Amino acid sequence: MAAPDKVAFITGAAGAIGSATALRLAQDGYALALADMGAPAAGSDLPEGLVLDLDVRSGDQVRAAVERTLATYGRIDVLVNVAGITSFGSAQQLAEAEWQRVLDINLSGTFRCCQAVLPAMKTQGRGRIVNLGSVLGKNGGNARPWVDAGEQKASGNVAYGVSKAGVHAMTAYLAREVASLGITVNAVAPGPVASAMTTALPPAIKSMIPVGRMGTPQDVAALIAFLASDAAGFITGETIDVNGGMWCD
Ligand SMILES: NC(=O)c1ccc[n+]([C@@H]2O[C@H](COP(=O)([O-])OP(=O)(O)OC[C@H]3O[C@@H](n4cnc5c(N)ncnc54)[C@H](O)[C@@H]3O)[C@@H](O)[C@H]2O)c1
Repeated sequence: MAAPDKVAFITGAAGAIGSATALRLAQDGYALALADMGAPAAGSDLPEGLVLDLDVRSGDQVRAAVERTLATYGRIDVLVNVAGITSFGSAQQLAEAEWQRVLDINLSGTFRCCQAVLPAMKTQGRGRIVNLGSVLGKNGGNARPWVDAGEQKASGNVAYGVSKAGVHAMTAYLAREVASLGITVNAVAPGPVASAMTTALPPAIKSMIPVGRMGTPQDVAALIAFLASDAAGFITGETIDVNGGMWCD
């Protein structure tokens, strides 16, 4: 196989935002490494690529997936950390095991993948990392005026929000560390996106979004593709909202 000009490694590639990102980056000419738990299913909507069975909880698996991608394609230009889980539970009631589970996947998983691709990006003198944050990492949790206080407490998502706030902070720290090496690190912070993650949300969520609709995976993928592009070379350490005006900062 001829070595591709540019390669993107996407975690959580089988999910809503991951697969939309894969399709978008394929259109932009990237060769793809598509990593997800259990490996993205054959016959899915995903474009062609190197399919990798990856659990981001395992540093060994992360390093092996990166090595396999480098052995196949020779380079990794873009890492998109999409793998993540949602979680409900208030700060008053959440079990510590759930706290640890969410941080291990959403925050530490993102950290492991960043660490694993950096040596190759440093050698290349070029790289782009895009992490998935969330509006819930900024806003202290969605206000839910249509539920009572008891339900609000029960439906909080403190571990998820904290994990994403950690992703935002890590993005800024890592960006400064590697800025002089030709590598940018940014995060995107979506509001509610129509996907498996948000099916449990009440329809009234739309009333909190000024543009009047949920986001789409394509809305998020378009921003990721821009941050991955050469045009975004002077943007680093940012967490950029894509939330229809739900939260502005
Ligand atoms: N959907 C939303 O409203 C929304 C909003 C803000 C941020 N996000 C973030 O966007 C990302 C993708 O969300 P989505 O809506 O596409 O969800 P999704 O559930 O469709 O996709 C998530 C993917 O991550 C994978 N994954 C979960 N745990 C993993 C692990 N340990 N190792 C490897 N892969 C794992 C899943 O298999 C799944 O394919 C997540 O990080 C999520 O937190 C989503």
